[in-house]
Amino acid sequence: MCGIVGYLGEGNVYDILIKGLHRLEYRGYDSAGVALVGNDGKINIFKTKGKVSNLEAFCADKCLDSKVGIAHTRWATHGEPSDTNAHPHYSEDGNIAIVHNGTIENYKLLKDALLQHGCKFHSDTDTEVLAQLIEYIRVTNKCSLLSAVRQALKQVVGAYAIAVVEKDNPDTLIAARQSSPLVIGMGDGEFFLASDATPFVEYTKECVYLKDGEIAEIRRNEPLKITNLDNVEAEIDVTTLQMSISQLEKGGYPHFMLKEIFEQPDTLRDCIRGRVVERGARININGVNDHKEKFLNAKRIIIVACGTSWHAGLLGKYLLQDMCRIPVEVEYASEFRYSNPVINEDDVVIAISQSGETADTLAAIQIAKNAGAFVFGISNVVGSSIPRETYSGCYIHVGPEIGVASTKAFTGQVMVLTLLSLAIAQLRQTMTQEQIADVGKAVLKIPTYVKRVLELNAKIERMSLIFTYARNFLYLGRGYSYPVALEGALKLKEISYIHAEGYPAAEMKHGPIALIDREMPSVIIAPKDHLYEKIVSNVQQVKARGGNILAIVTEGDTEISKLADHVLEVPEMPECLTPIITSVPLQLLSYYIAINKGKDVDMPRNLAKSVTVE
Ligand code: G6P
Repeated sequence: MCGIVGYLGEGNVYDILIKGLHRLEYRGYDSAGVALVGNDGKINIFKTKGKVSNLEAFCADKCLDSKVGIAHTRWATHGEPSDTNAHPHYSEDGNIAIVHNGTIENYKLLKDALLQHGCKFHSDTDTEVLAQLIEYIRVTNKCSLLSAVRQALKQVVGAYAIAVVEKDNPDTLIAARQSSPLVIGMGDGEFFLASDATPFVEYTKECVYLKDGEIAEIRRNEPLKITNLDNVEAEIDVTTLQMSISQLEKGGYPHFMLKEIFEQPDTLRDCIRGRVVERGARININGVNDHKEKFLNAKRIIIVACGTSWHAGLLGKYLLQDMCRIPVEVEYASEFRYSNPVINEDDVVIAISQSGETADTLAAIQIAKNAGAFVFGISNVVGSSIPRETYSGCYIHVGPEIGVASTKAFTGQVMVLTLLSLAIAQLRQTMTQEQIADVGKAVLKIPTYVKRVLELNAKIERMSLIFTYARNFLYLGRGYSYPVALEGALKLKEISYIHAEGYPAAEMKHGPIALIDREMPSVIIAPKDHLYEKIVSNVQQVKARGGNILAIVTEGDTEISKLADHVLEVPEMPECLTPIITSVPLQLLSYYIAINKGKDVDMPRNLAKSVTVE
């Protein structure tokens, strides 16, 4: 949520910043801006409402020479998206400029105090308050920028990642973090700063992830120095990135989302690699092997997550309960954190997050840790906060997901939850060796089967035309297909802005059935599983009311296929693996409906990929 880029070096500052902002646009895109410090003792700030491309157009005829700069793409929290509220913000005397990601909770208090000292404000943002506070301290205490930043941050309550530059000092860039990510790229005589490593991966693979409460002092031709708020020097821990530049490009696809849908055979293969061994007979999850007693003694599992990750978590409940016979609760992290949750020391809490940075999920982790539970993280972004804050975990290894609507990360999360369930079942002996091997062998086939499902692409593209002008959709499923229905509905809402509701198919008769008519399509996920006969009845109930049915069924299906208006067939799989197979056609369906409606599928309105505020 909000993307920060900074650069200090001999390269073209503006070009590097703009390219970086494009890479971070998935984090927010309602306004963007740059602050460039030149040799002439000036900071030039250019900012506009809208996407980074608007900023580029705005800057086309401006003087962009500079030695150091910071940039920002915003997802509004305080104040509407506008030119004035866009970052960078600056102190009233124009001496410093700042970009910020996060929320300063006590900004009103700080603002009132500054108003009393005669400061004037131009925007509605909490960030401007921080800019004015830093400069007020710098001037009043006659101290360095670094010292002023440190003193200001000691007064701040809330979350922040900030980058600050000073008018007369083109050789310095100051950055700090608390609960919002920031990473420093270490080039040859140059430094990069960003919310994640994607803006600088083509320049350097060496980077340092800033930790909470740390301030980085980046100076030209000097080694990086990191201190904490008490000015104690911290160790510099350099990480080598595994990411490649091709993972960040569209690779011939018109949108990242489509590319990411089509990558799934490969991403699932990467996710499974090394974890299903002995030809499917044994499951090997290091994060479980290293903490066997925690999983053996667990009396309950609590899953916390948000958005699509919550849907994966709901599938985790079905998987873990089925395979491991442990009671599982699935909580929205935002509700869990304020629900005065009862957590025991023999609970295992599983936090799921693609980005590894979601604020509510991080807060839920903290609560679980404080209560003494064992916390296990499932994340995609290596080095992000959630893997660092949890005791153990498992990466989904699907590569950077750029499209705001999650696709390959969802199937990766479901795959990891399946493997995790099998690994725990293996440990607790709640499944026989034979049962584990049956599922293990089928898991190895998943990438090939997903590839087959992707062959439905052209059919789904054609079919999407029929549904494009529907104003409401109902998505129905039972058992393992119920979370798939929720995720299918969310995907459609997110990118096409059509209202869609996911519902347990049998629950439909208690309310949503009243909505059914020819105008409202019902997407029914009905693979061959132990609830198949039950869902046939639900399909009949929709049919009897003149509903328009699109059914996702197993190849060779006859019963539902006869009732449905439109059918998509997927290969047969063991029941616990059907969600991965059935969610892929739903991703394609939303994609094409959104395209038909002319929507920006990679950057849907009002959404952001990484939600680092409450
Ligand atoms: C945002 C994204 C969703 C995502 C959710 C949780 O709302 O748009 O796609 O599912 O955050 O994010 P996480 O990174 O924790 O999975």
